[in-house]
Amino acid sequence: MANIFITGVTGFLGGELLIDLSKRKDIDKIYCLIRAESEKTASKRLSYIFSFHEDHLNLDKIIPIIGDLTEEDLSSRLIADKRLSDVNLIVHAAANTSFSPIYDKMVEQVNIHGLEKILNWSKTLKKLKTFLYIGTATICGKETTNRLIKEEESPNVNVKHLVRYTYTKMMGELLLKQYLPEEKILIARPSIIMGDSRQWVPRSYVIMWALASINFLRLVPVNSNASLDIIPVDYASSAIVKLLFSEKRKYNVYHISAGSKSATTLLMLTRAIESYFPDKPTFNFIDRELTREVKLWARKKLNGNNALKNYTEYLNYWNREMEDSGDLRILMGGLDPYLSFIELGQVFDNTRLQQDTDAGFPEPAHEYIKRSVQFIENIDIFEAALEP
Ligand SMILES: NC(=O)c1ccc[n+]([C@@H]2O[C@H](COP(=O)([O-])OP(=O)(O)OC[C@H]3O[C@@H](n4cnc5c(N)ncnc54)[C@H](OP(=O)(O)O)[C@@H]3O)[C@@H](O)[C@H]2O)c1
Repeated sequence: MANIFITGVTGFLGGELLIDLSKRKDIDKIYCLIRAESEKTASKRLSYIFSFHEDHLNLDKIIPIIGDLTEEDLSSRLIADKRLSDVNLIVHAAANTSFSPIYDKMVEQVNIHGLEKILNWSKTLKKLKTFLYIGTATICGKETTNRLIKEEESPNVNVKHLVRYTYTKMMGELLLKQYLPEEKILIARPSIIMGDSRQWVPRSYVIMWALASINFLRLVPVNSNASLDIIPVDYASSAIVKLLFSEKRKYNVYHISAGSKSATTLLMLTRAIESYFPDKPTFNFIDRELTREVKLWARKKLNGNNALKNYTEYLNYWNREMEDSGDLRILMGGLDPYLSFIELGQVFDNTRLQQDTDAGFPEPAHEYIKRSVQFIENIDIFEAALEP
């Protein structure tokens, strides 16, 4: 029987992982590291995850462990906790996923030093079989563009990153090797997780916020033909759980991705949703370099001869839709790193996952997104832009 310790369960992917794991009969206990002030609030946070799925929380099986990855004495507290001595599987899904440079320090603290604390404790576990680290496929750097990328190309400390977040996720993979023997390490690298392919409101608007913002803007400075590797959270979670329990596993690292078969493009995604919003101007994509002009327009400082003046339909629409053009600055600030990721055209090979599990291929994002159209419309894009 497995005794699991899992982090990040209150998050987008972690919540799905917890639900999927809780359904398995070969798992005895699932200890969940949760940020909370008391046992009561921790249990409340857990209950919310289960009620979201109209599921029942069994506190005999799912046990909250209060803790924060930034806590100084986290390792020693976990070592001293007798309940955890039988843990044989660790799933580390917690991370600070912010792309904004304002949070760079915190991103490092959580994703590198927080992981170090879990690893320090994990070394002391006599029964530990597997440490599953949820990494990210996008650690391959900003110079790897417009092609299919294989697992063995990363980690490479020489690549340049678009944001600190991906750097810290890459460093996390390297840290694992310093603490644990190869045979105990399993790294699952999801590509971009957006929405849910089931017919319900997805658990989180993370990433979907970018699509909602693009849907609002309609005139977007990005290459809409670049390939995009996007998967829904339900597929990501079930593929990861299948991988964790697969007896055919031969590698330490696996992409959890759409791959060439299910990849999409922004053009296909926007075409899929366009007809649901007949009152908006049609989607139009312009050169990424025009971001500067869009930002200047938002600051009311766009003068003279500029390319944006050819798009008056969109400028009038923005004027109508936004009381304050400063809102556009906030939106573009949050969207900037997402547009840069879109332009990379990275697709992640998933042959390993196909061979070693029966996870199959995800439904392409331009198909399942049609079931989330109402949700896209309800995202408060301006509020979310302040917390990118
Ligand atoms: N979303 C994607 O597109 C994507 C793609 C590839 C890989 N991933 C990876 O998948 C994992 C989950 O991502 P996600 O999108 O589900 O993120 P998320 O929704 O932002 O969830 C992050 C989780 O980490 C927890 N956490 C953050 N800081 C913490 C701290 N100091 N101490 C303890 N827990 C902390 C959060 O707890 P609170 O609720 O208390 O804040 C939350 O449970 C991450 O490792 C991420 O790198 C995500």
